[in-house]
Amino acid sequence: MKNEIKIFSPATVANVACGFDVLGFCLDSQGDEMVIRKTTKKGIEITHIEGYDLPYETEANVAGVSALAMYNHIKPKCGFEIEIYKKIKPGSGIGSSAASAVGSVFGMNELLGQPFTKQQLTYFAMKGEALASKSEHADNLAPAIYGGFTLVKSTAPLDILQLPTPQHLYATIIHPQIEIKTAAARAVLPNEVSLKDAITQWANLGSLVHALHCNDYKLLHRALQDNIVEPYRKNLIPYFDNVKYAAMCAGALGCAISGSGPSIFTLSKGLDAAKAIEQAMIKSYKPTQIKFETHVSKINTKGIKILS
Ligand code: HSE
Repeated sequence: MKNEIKIFSPATVANVACGFDVLGFCLDSQGDEMVIRKTTKKGIEITHIEGYDLPYETEANVAGVSALAMYNHIKPKCGFEIEIYKKIKPGSGIGSSAASAVGSVFGMNELLGQPFTKQQLTYFAMKGEALASKSEHADNLAPAIYGGFTLVKSTAPLDILQLPTPQHLYATIIHPQIEIKTAAARAVLPNEVSLKDAITQWANLGSLVHALHCNDYKLLHRALQDNIVEPYRKNLIPYFDNVKYAAMCAGALGCAISGSGPSIFTLSKGLDAAKAIEQAMIKSYKPTQIKFETHVSKINTKGIKILS
């Protein structure tokens, strides 16, 4: 059995417009790299971090907390070292904390001979995600682990459904270079929603799931709407309406906040459409004084993977 493993832990888009806290999909354009190493010294130690300034203290690091959740559950005879090569900017809205939380437990599970299922890995990773967002949700974690689209049917008990991915579906992401902490983006949301809004939202969510099963791009277009969360959160993202308008005019099937933002995602049919939408988003954001990045990604149907 291996003593060391290098993994790619992908970025993800959570919520996917109408699926707040339950729906997500996996990207392949961005992700963190992590090295997990078995040691004779017991415990979990974070030995190297590159890319962003994150805590080395195990209990204060998302990857460390999820690793500890698994470690304390299985109580192995060995310990683990974790190296994090962080490529996904924290607070970007494309599952930065989820990638860290998932990477450590996935790597440890491989080195231990895969004693845990994907669902159990998601459970441990949820403990790490909770450190970052002050809430146990799995809509970034599940797609990072399973790949493709996932629906978190419930978190207690954890119940995850894998949904199909239409073959020609692409995502385009614009990431304004401001940081929005998930906890702050959750704090602006109301505690209650009206029955009318809830009906619209669950009709859209059901339609979106149906569209994924039927490869129905026209229905995807009609379903990709968020009338509950977006009205509150869009105020945290400068020029959100402008960039959404530009993306929709350029042919996006839908455009919404990625996770808790500030990234904004679109879905489209085919690579050419995704690139045209990227250009439209660039054109709309350039006149602002805010720096931004864009990328186009095929939906990653495999999820987290071993590099070596
Ligand atoms: N569903 C979560 C949210 C994703 O939107 O707050 C970010 O962790």
